This record gives sequence, C-alpha cells and structure tokens, in this order.
Amino acid sequence: MLPTTRHEVDLLRRARPGMAAVLLGGHLSRHLPGPPLRKVPGLGWVTADPVVSRTVLGDHRSFTIVGEGGVGHLWAQILGDWVLDLFDGPGHHDLRSRSRELFTEASSAELVEGAWSGPLAAAREALRAGGTVDVARLARVLVGRMMISLLGVPGPDASADGDPSRGSRRAPGTWPTDEDALTVFETGERLATIALGSAGSTHLSPAQVAAAREIVAELTRGVPAGWRDAPADTLLGRCRELGLGLEETTGLACLLMVAGTETSASAMARTTALLVDTGEQHRLLDRMRADADRSAAGEVRAPGEPDAVENAVREGLRVTSPASVIGRGVAADVEVAGRRLAEGERIMMLVWSANIGAGPFRAGRPYVRESRQLWFGAGRHLCLGAALARAEIGALLHTLWDDGEPLRVVSRSAQRGVLIPGYRTLVVARD
Ligand code: HEM
Repeated sequence: MLPTTRHEVDLLRRARPGMAAVLLGGHLSRHLPGPPLRKVPGLGWVTADPVVSRTVLGDHRSFTIVGEGGVGHLWAQILGDWVLDLFDGPGHHDLRSRSRELFTEASSAELVEGAWSGPLAAAREALRAGGTVDVARLARVLVGRMMISLLGVPGPDASADGDPSRGSRRAPGTWPTDEDALTVFETGERLATIALGSAGSTHLSPAQVAAAREIVAELTRGVPAGWRDAPADTLLGRCRELGLGLEETTGLACLLMVAGTETSASAMARTTALLVDTGEQHRLLDRMRADADRSAAGEVRAPGEPDAVENAVREGLRVTSPASVIGRGVAADVEVAGRRLAEGERIMMLVWSANIGAGPFRAGRPYVRESRQLWFGAGRHLCLGAALARAEIGALLHTLWDDGEPLRVVSRSAQRGVLIPGYRTLVVARD
C-alpha cells in the first residue's frame, strides 16, 4: 500500500525517479528488522528514522553541512570559501544569532500581507465568480513576488549597480507584474537545478559554477543598494540594522532564494491537492466553522494551540516534506545507532520517509512528537524561514477555503526533472 496519495507518489517519480525509489524504499525499510542506519552503495549512509535524523542534525561536532555532501560545500564553490564560515563556523553562529528575529510570526504575516494581498484577492474573486485558478502558477507568482520584495530585486530598468533611483524606472506600480515574478522564480529555480546532481556528489563542474555565479549576480543585484539605503522595516534594511555586513547579507540573500522558493511553492500546491484528493478539505471546512463559532462565543485558544488552518499547514508540511532529503558530511569518526561512521563519509537523511511514517494526510492530525518539525530540519541549521513558510501556506489556504466551499481539481501536471517535487499546473475550481 502507498504511504500517501498516488498523485503525491507520481510527483516524486516525475521529479527524480531514482530519488523516489530511495524515498519509498526508506519508508519500507522502517518496517524491516535491522538497524535504522544503513550503508547504501553510491549514496553512503542513509537513514529514514526521525530520531536518528535529529541526532545527526543536532551533533555539530561530528557532522558538517560544509563538507562533501552538504549544501555549504555547493555554495563555497559558487560564492567562494568565505561562505564556509558563514555556513558552519563561528560566522554561522553569529549570523543565526543576529537573524533570529528576521522571520517571526508577526513579521511573516506582515510580509505576506504586503507582497501578496493583490494576487490573493484576485484568486479569491476568480473562484467566487465560478472561474478556475492554477494554484501551482499562483504559488510561483507569489513566491517570486516574495523574493523580489525580500531581496529588493530592482526592476529591469534600474541602474547597473541595482539602484532603482538611478535608472529610468517603469511607471510606478508596474514592477513587478506576475510575469516578472515568474521570471525571478524561474531564475531561482535554475540555480537550485544546478544542485540536482548533488545526491551522489556535491562537486560542481566549472560550467555549473559559472552558470550559478551568473544567476547569483543577477538575483542579488539589488542587495548592495538595499543594504545601503532600504528602510529598517525591509529585510535588507533589517540586515543592516542587525549589524550584518554586505557580504553576509549577500550570502543570506542567496540562502533565502534557494531555500525558500521551490520549497514553499511545492508545499503550497501539494497541500492544496492533498486536501482535495483525500477529501480532508471537508474536515478542514468543519474545523474552520468550529473555530469561528468558538471565537464568536469569546473562547480563546490555549497558547501554542493551532487553529484549523495552522493545523492543516503543519500536516501538509509533514506529508509533503518538500526538502525530502538533507545531507551532511561526517566531520569526525562517530558512532550513531550502533554503526561506526568514519570521517569523510556522507550521510543522507530521508526526511520525507521519516515524516510520512506517522500516517496519511489528516487535516486535524495532532502534533506528531516523533517527527516534531523535521520538514524544517533540526539543530543549528533549522529552517530560518519556517515562520514565513507557514504564513505563506496558511495565506493560500485561507484564500482557497475561507468562503466555506469545497474545491475540485480540474486538471494537473507534474514538474519533471526537478530537485523539489511539485506541480507544474494544478487547476482548481469550486466543486
Ligand atoms: C515549505 C517551505 C520550506 C521548507 C520545507 C524548508 C526546509 C528547510 C530545511 C529542511 C532546512 C535545513 C537544511 C539543512 O539542514 O541542510 C532549511 C534551511 C533554511 N531555510 Fe528553509 N524551508 C522552507 C522555506 C523557507 C523560506 C520561505 C525561507 C526564507 C525565505 C527559508 C530559509 C532557509 C534558510 C536561510 C535556511 C538555512 C539555515 C541555516 O543553514 O542556518 N526556508 N529549510
């Protein structure tokens, strides 16, 4: 029996058939006798166990993100060796301490409201009028808009150093259009695709390095001007106020772009499809009505208790786990789950398989202690944008279901050959 919907499994297969086999195999392996950590030829150490995964992610002495097998290794080749300290050394600790407040629940809600209210209102209206919405495209537009706003990406007419005040700008209000947002999203996607081969190795060819550098230069061209002049209530302005230098801010911008584009767009469309495909949208609608009744009666939720939509967002993240695999290099000989791992080896944590173990998508599923929020990683590299990602998915679900009516999927297609499985199209309409 499949651990999730056949549409979800189809997305994994279309993205990367080899990886889909590893993830499904990882899920099956959890029911087999034997150690929860195995050595697989060509991949290195592999685990689908949430507790072993968290142990590895929390052991910063024995495992590294910058060694062969971790994303830091990829970035060092693209941006330069200064990245290594920013990713894992004292520089990383400093960066994380300073950037702790970048994405809080409150600031994330404001970012979503600021960058997305227009396109979300248009989608709501289209559904209300009996039309269709391509949620996959909408998610890419929204995430593209978020990146433009976060990174201060200037319009195409800005001056060469990215300062929009010194270029012949388009008429006010025309940047960015949905098409502009899609272009930025796709540029970020190309960058992530360069990492596609990294399941086997994180060494890039000179051609890949050159292509990646060009994309980074394009996407971060607004960073110097934004870091210098942007108001303190923007991300770049806040970086400056927090004492981050231009180099650190550029590094952080690259991280945000790669970590927060495809992952968010993937989770948004897939959670929508899961709610419809499993019929759980009806439970969500019931729970939303119950929330509304309780709040009308003056009841206050206990601190930390999610509302109906927040619960469905968490469950969507668990079941989709867009960053399906997290890699680390072994920095020092270490024993984990009864196995001896040697310095220089690699370990892959099959996060998707670890999270899916708790069962199929249920909009009202309570918190799963075993996996906690492993879809955002764990330890010192725990997703910096987690609050923003949750706010993004939540805003979309509100747009789609606040009217209290169920949806149906009109048509869909999967992305092929991508790092993060996702929908190319997902057209929905009122049922
Ligand atoms: C559903 C959406 C998302 C998922 C599933 C996700 C998942 C993850 C995971 C698993 C990691 C840890 C990687 C590792 O340990 O190797 C991570 C790190 C990170 N994420 Fe996210 N992410 C999402 C959205 C975002 C967004 C929206 C942003 C910001 C705009 C973001 C920014 C980051 C950053 C900066 C890191 C690196 C943190 C560090 O190394 O200290 N992510 N994310």
